[in-house]
Amino acid sequence: MDNTDLHNDLIIRDYKEDDYDEIVKFWYLTDMGNPERGDSKDTIKRTLELGGKLLVMETKSSRQVCGTSWMTYDGRRILLHHFGILPEYQGKGLSKILLKESLQFVKSIGAQVKLEVHSTNLKAANLYKKFGFVHLGEYNVYIIRDVSNL
Ligand SMILES: CC(C)(COP(=O)(O)OP(=O)(O)OC[C@H]1O[C@@H](n2cnc3c(N)ncnc32)[C@H](O)[C@@H]1OP(=O)(O)O)[C@@H](O)C(=O)NCCC(=O)NCCS
Repeated sequence: MDNTDLHNDLIIRDYKEDDYDEIVKFWYLTDMGNPERGDSKDTIKRTLELGGKLLVMETKSSRQVCGTSWMTYDGRRILLHHFGILPEYQGKGLSKILLKESLQFVKSIGAQVKLEVHSTNLKAANLYKKFGFVHLGEYNVYIIRDVSNL
């Protein structure tokens, strides 16, 4: 299938709970599935109830999930994460289609949008810059994963 046929074969839709198992496999295959991140079915549900969105890109012909874009909203900013394309579908322009659709959601909310990308991930950085994201400066990212001792 050439890129034009592939692009015509795509749909982008909202996540539904039945997708969870396949999405987890997808995140594993795209190196976004670190269990330490704690991204359970309930976490997804909560973020959607809070006004976030999880977009799923799939092929119409084979119902193959080939991309996700998860945007969480805390009432102040939107955080874009779990943005990725299945390895065998990379390099065919799919991320641009998915990011364009994601930014329509951002526009509909009207809040600032932020993301974290590893400094070595030049593909992703190039993509984000192309869509207007600007590097915020030399910030480091900190997190408490284990809250049981707080
Ligand atoms: C980053 C990622 C989403 C790009 O998806 P993709 O579908 O392969 O990218 P596309 O074919 O749509 O290309 C989009 C843009 O990415 C950049 N890009 C893609 N491949 C590139 C490469 N090999 N080198 C440099 N930049 C590249 C370019 O800016 C390109 O735009 P252009 O073709 O107009 O020059 C994909 O590599 C991916 O899913 N990686 C694993 C998950 C990940 O790292 N996600 C980002 C987490 S922050």
